[in-house]
Amino acid sequence: MSGPLRPRGPLSAAVLGLVTAGPPGAGRLLAPPGPFDDPWGEDHQLALFLCYELHDRGLPGVHPGWEWEPELLTLRRALERPFLAAVRAAAEPVPPLPEALERLLLEPAGGTGPSHHLLAVGDRTQAREYLVHRSLYHLKEADPQLWLLPRIHGPAQAVLLAITFDEYGAGRPERAHALLFARMMAAFGLDPAYRHYLDLVPASSLAVVNLMTLFGLHRALRGAAVGQFAAIEITSSPGAARLAAALDRLGGGPDGTLFYREHVEADAVHEQLVRRGVIAELVSAEPETAQDVAFGIAAAEVVDGRFAEHLLGCWRSGRSSLRSPLPDLPDLPDPATLPGPAAARD
Ligand SMILES: [Fe+2]
Ligand SMILES: [Fe+2]
Repeated sequence: MSGPLRPRGPLSAAVLGLVTAGPPGAGRLLAPPGPFDDPWGEDHQLALFLCYELHDRGLPGVHPGWEWEPELLTLRRALERPFLAAVRAAAEPVPPLPEALERLLLEPAGGTGPSHHLLAVGDRTQAREYLVHRSLYHLKEADPQLWLLPRIHGPAQAVLLAITFDEYGAGRPERAHALLFARMMAAFGLDPAYRHYLDLVPASSLAVVNLMTLFGLHRALRGAAVGQFAAIEITSSPGAARLAAALDRLGGGPDGTLFYREHVEADAVHEQLVRRGVIAELVSAEPETAQDVAFGIAAAEVVDGRFAEHLLGCWRSGRSSLRSPLPDLPDLPDPATLPGPAAARD
């Protein structure tokens, strides 16, 4: 599944064609790709994801100088604008911040999201698919939020740093959430290498990660970045409890449930910190960000809602939620071979 990156249409082909042809500055001109009229589509989301990876882990065989090459940044901007416009349109009407926060705190009775499905009727194949979708973010958990750190200041910055410190294991690298997720993938016979399953992951999952990076990379969107992060932290704990129970029922064992068990407690604390420490302090220092924070919360609901709809639509009709199904047999490795002392495991 890993291997050469494969385009999904003219936009992602244009990005790949440009950056894989050699180092920047060789005078190549990008034929104007397009159209940009399907921002939720496979091609558009992959093209944006590839642009963002140049700011993040880089792409195999691609010169790192492409990160700041104006020609590529122009294309990235052409991809970002219609995506952000589509998210804004779908997020309307954005409620005032207090109302947006209140809504987040209410767990709807009789919820129907993917964690409810996995807990009630999910099978092992669906659990493995869920981990593959989520791997694009959780294997780099909190990296997109770190873009935000130097863009806010004072108490809000200090508390955001405290939360993200936990995400990286709070001084214990073996407890970094990305590593716990990798152990969980291995326990389910999945390859935990970063981006290994990119080719299988559909646009609705890419959009969740792309939105985090989009918000994180733009200072003008720092309020929205806080809002999306808050939505994740505030809603995580009960969902994590359901996922831990679901994966336990499906044979996950200690390694196969540790990531979600960790989040039941960690995010119950982070929920308080993000509301009272990050949001309240940011809005008090910079009141003009309040409506952007509310927009970030609404935007998170939009992308998460699309992702959930995709998963449940596929699963309820007996289809794979990935672009092609996973091989039946577990392919990789024994969790014991992953880095981190065994003593770190529950
Ligand atoms: Fe986490
Ligand atoms: Fe957290």
